Amino acid sequence: MAHNVPMQGGGFYSANSGLQYEAMKKALPLIKRAIIQTSAKNLSLISDGFTIVEYGCSDGNNSLEPFVAIMESLESHAYANLIFNDRPENDFSVVAGHITKLQQLLMSKSGADVFLSMVPASFYSSVVKPSSAHFGFSLYCLQHLDRAAAPPQQSHGEFLSDALKQIPFKEQADIDLRNFLTLRATEILPGGSLVLTFTGQAQSGEPNVVGIVSSLRDATAEMVQEGKVSRDAASSFHIPVYSRTAEATKSVLADMGSSWIVREHFDEWVTHPATEEMALRRSRRSLKEEDYVWYAGVAVDWGMAISAGHFQKALQGDGLDQNKVNTIMAEWEEKTKVCFLKSFKEQALRCTTTYLRLERVQL
Ligand SMILES: C[S@@+](CC[C@H](N)C(=O)[O-])C[C@H]1O[C@@H](n2cnc3c(N)ncnc32)[C@H](O)[C@@H]1O
Repeated sequence: MAHNVPMQGGGFYSANSGLQYEAMKKALPLIKRAIIQTSAKNLSLISDGFTIVEYGCSDGNNSLEPFVAIMESLESHAYANLIFNDRPENDFSVVAGHITKLQQLLMSKSGADVFLSMVPASFYSSVVKPSSAHFGFSLYCLQHLDRAAAPPQQSHGEFLSDALKQIPFKEQADIDLRNFLTLRATEILPGGSLVLTFTGQAQSGEPNVVGIVSSLRDATAEMVQEGKVSRDAASSFHIPVYSRTAEATKSVLADMGSSWIVREHFDEWVTHPATEEMALRRSRRSLKEEDYVWYAGVAVDWGMAISAGHFQKALQGDGLDQNKVNTIMAEWEEKTKVCFLKSFKEQALRCTTTYLRLERVQL
């Protein structure tokens, strides 16, 4: 089953991607090092201009700081081409609003001409012409698989455990990372660089954003019990994402050694700013119910930005009309908040994150 569900559009993702923003900030030093190293190589085309591709920009809200860092680290160039890619289903009108402001900022800061393009395509296919880019980056995207292999058959009326669902996803995750790196090796010039972040798996076994994943699942199960969501819709609701272990990523990278040199590879926890805010409030006074309600709201909105499109797709697959779907979605969101408040309000919202800086092999 092809995975073609975008983040929530209309600016909802921008307003609810605080964890991704924190992850992006930690990637900035890698991006700067990659640009300095690529600039020093004086690659062909580079005296005229510098071409950068962002693979998986979503709304473009988390693209601004990386592009400012890139332009600040770049030696002077006549012009820069900034290319923003995401799936065709992505809300590119929101991207356009963000990146035209960015263009003005960069041109006033650097004095260089800055040209913008948007490419609606899967990054599991070609995105730009061969050997046409100097630098590429992709932040918090590669956990999204190209397709979700059908989960193993479940006996009637049973939900599949998360662990079982993950088996076919693991194989797909290896295929996808290999495919992505092969495609980017044709697009990025030898000597150019690629910076990637995606969700990883902690060695301790602690799952990522466990409070949200569990609350979404519990709310869905409750709605099935109440007869508001069919079992078929509930079992077809799964988000085709997979968090790779450091070893799995390393093993794919080892196979890609003739195309990419690994300059940096590490895993780090990234915490949602709302968890930090709760810790700050707790250090000043005892927490009240309204603090927890606020935390549950932020956490669930964050989860909704990623998962709502998938739940909607599952309901639509059940043949429900859009009004009915909207009513169910609203109740599901409320129930998810209640589940979070009941069982996870003290839990950190955090995610192990893999950081990679790769250099394209020069022959
Ligand atoms: C969690 S968001 C991250 C967005 C942004 N880079 C950030 O850091 O906030 C993941 C993005 O990857 C995009 N994405 C997932 N699979 C994709 C694919 N095959 N091709 C292009 N974009 C994809 C999604 O549409 C979504 O916008």
